[in-house]
Amino acid sequence: MSVPPVAFLGTGLMGRPMIRRLVQAGFPVIAWNRTAGKAEPLRELGVRVAATAADAVTRAQVVVLMLADAPAIRTVLLADAVRALLAGRTVIQMGTIAPTESRSLAQDVDDLGGEYLEAPVLGSIPEAEAGTLIVMAGAEEAAWRRWRGLLAVFGEARLVGPVGQGAALKLAMNQLIAAETAAFALSLALVEREGVPVETFMEVLRASALHAPTFDKKLERMLAHRYTDPNFPTRHLLKDVALFLGEAEHLGLGAEALAGVRAVLERAIAQGHADEDYSALREAILRR
Ligand SMILES: NC(=O)c1ccc[n+]([C@@H]2O[C@H](COP(=O)([O-])OP(=O)(O)OC[C@H]3O[C@@H](n4cnc5c(N)ncnc54)[C@H](OP(=O)(O)O)[C@@H]3O)[C@@H](O)[C@H]2O)c1
Repeated sequence: MSVPPVAFLGTGLMGRPMIRRLVQAGFPVIAWNRTAGKAEPLRELGVRVAATAADAVTRAQVVVLMLADAPAIRTVLLADAVRALLAGRTVIQMGTIAPTESRSLAQDVDDLGGEYLEAPVLGSIPEAEAGTLIVMAGAEEAAWRRWRGLLAVFGEARLVGPVGQGAALKLAMNQLIAAETAAFALSLALVEREGVPVETFMEVLRASALHAPTFDKKLERMLAHRYTDPNFPTRHLLKDVALFLGEAEHLGLGAEALAGVRAVLERAIAQGHADEDYSALREAILRR
């Protein structure tokens, strides 16, 4: 495919390595971030840094969004100066938002004469750096065919279905991150308090059908109580759990178990772990 200039809005934890991938793949990138200091270092890669979101959008044909949540997206994308530019442009929304939020954004972009795809990702900073994210697109077939080459820069890209279904699949996966991590931290806490050697617990767990690779990935942090330098902060996991619970309510699903996990995450945040790795939810479980 030809390489159109890409306006990339949101140079946070995920945005920065994703921009690096685009540059390596030969895409001209114009980046913008609310806090300008986080975008400045990208100049070394040959990225142009725009002073405003509208400046970035005006210089590109496609706009990639890697912003925190739907309110942030609406603030940036639907500001007067940007919405006036969306006719004839494509918006690819890659953050984690709810299916209803994504469908509503799709409608707004469509009303303004633009094209909208959602493409949330599974995987974190290491996968973003390596270009091995799992990209779950929700889009019209024709839009998918036009932009699948760009999405493949970030990793394994697949079309899940129409707009909303990529977002739904992403929430389904993040519900598992929250539930599995909380369940693991709770079992770990029990065996520790009862004096069972952690290695015995892990050997039995690894040999069973209940083991998930994420348990081994998080064990070291949990045992060291070290949650600094996060790939995925607790506040974002709480956001995703809240989004899931909202959808579950709407769809008539009994999500009481996840509501319990939400309470654990809220307590972890009240304890000061909002910007730390989400495995810090262990500290809320070890409350005494
Ligand atoms: N980290 C992960 O492992 C991971 C993995 C998959 C998906 N995600 C999802 O991807 C999205 C981005 O995640 P991230 O980890 O890169 O988050 P992050 O580091 O917190 O970055 C969030 C970005 O959103 C911007 N932002 C927040 N509120 C804004 C507002 N009101 N107006 C304008 N900009 C605003 C921030 O700008 P400032 O710099 O000015 O604050 C920053 O650019 C989230 O939806 C997250 O759930 C994250």
